[in-house]
Amino acid sequence: MALIARGLGYVYGQGTGFGIDALRGVDFDLSSGEMLVIAGATGSGKSTLLRLLAGLLRPSAGSVTVDGVAPHARSARGRVAIVFQNPESQFFAETVLADVAFGPGNLGAEDPDVVAADALAAVGLDPGAFGGRSPLTLSGGEARRAAIAGALAMRAPYLLLDEPTAGLDSRGRRDVIAAITAERARAGVAVVTHDPDEFLSDADHVLALSDGAPVFDGSVAALFDAFREYESAGLRLPEVVRAQLLARERGAHIPEIGFEPREAARVLMAARGERR
Ligand SMILES: Nc1ncnc2c1ncn2[C@@H]1O[C@H](COP(=O)(O)OP(=O)(O)OP(=O)(O)O)[C@@H](O)[C@H]1O
Ligand SMILES: [Mg+2]
Repeated sequence: MALIARGLGYVYGQGTGFGIDALRGVDFDLSSGEMLVIAGATGSGKSTLLRLLAGLLRPSAGSVTVDGVAPHARSARGRVAIVFQNPESQFFAETVLADVAFGPGNLGAEDPDVVAADALAAVGLDPGAFGGRSPLTLSGGEARRAAIAGALAMRAPYLLLDEPTAGLDSRGRRDVIAAITAERARAGVAVVTHDPDEFLSDADHVLALSDGAPVFDGSVAALFDAFREYESAGLRLPEVVRAQLLARERGAHIPEIGFEPREAARVLMAARGERR
């Protein structure tokens, strides 16, 4: 049981003579309980990949399967939830609560409004204050959180998020990151991000794209071993992590990389044989 991509590729406007080769040669398996971070610069194919995984685009090359079937197949209904990069484009109901409750209602949940209220609370939106509002009146950060709540409420086995923390303040980021990482308890989660800072410490796998092609694909530990290649593709690791990798490159004994400044300080001190 997994969300699987094999030799996956996509050309926009194929056969028109003006085709844009947006993605090629992508392979991965995402199982329940795992988090895949998809990193890459602007235009590298990240959103295209998510659309293919959600069955919104059909592959030009290779394949996607969700638990053995194509994502657009009827039997795959409700198996993949997606949060778009522009969450405003996702709303259609008159109230926030109705919008978030639509997915679970459609999938036959017993009490979709309760599921929706829980999902809103999980992303830090008070259902009492926001549930009755029109989605069109939400601020950018509120809209993003509401769109994430809509995907969480579907309780789909695979959750795909395109830049879920873009435009959020630090509190919003914290709520959303906590809600997304908690989803791994019951789902496979793929997160697209420009800079993988926020999700790296929770990631099982990282797929880095450059110009539509994978430039790195592997575990976080393997990414740290290959960080020069990763960075040569124009991608950047968090500064706190880089500092430790640079020290390691110069011979410091650093078995585990810390993600927080405090942890990093401890790691670097220990590498010098000092303890504090
Ligand atoms: N509907 C479309 N028609 C034609 N080309 C498209 C379309 N959507 C995307 N592209 C092109 O495909 C390539 C990949 O775009 P995609 O949106 O997947 O990038 P991205 O990695 O998500 O970028 P960003 O970080 O800016 O969101 C880009 O060159 C883009 O211009
Ligand atoms: Mg995008």
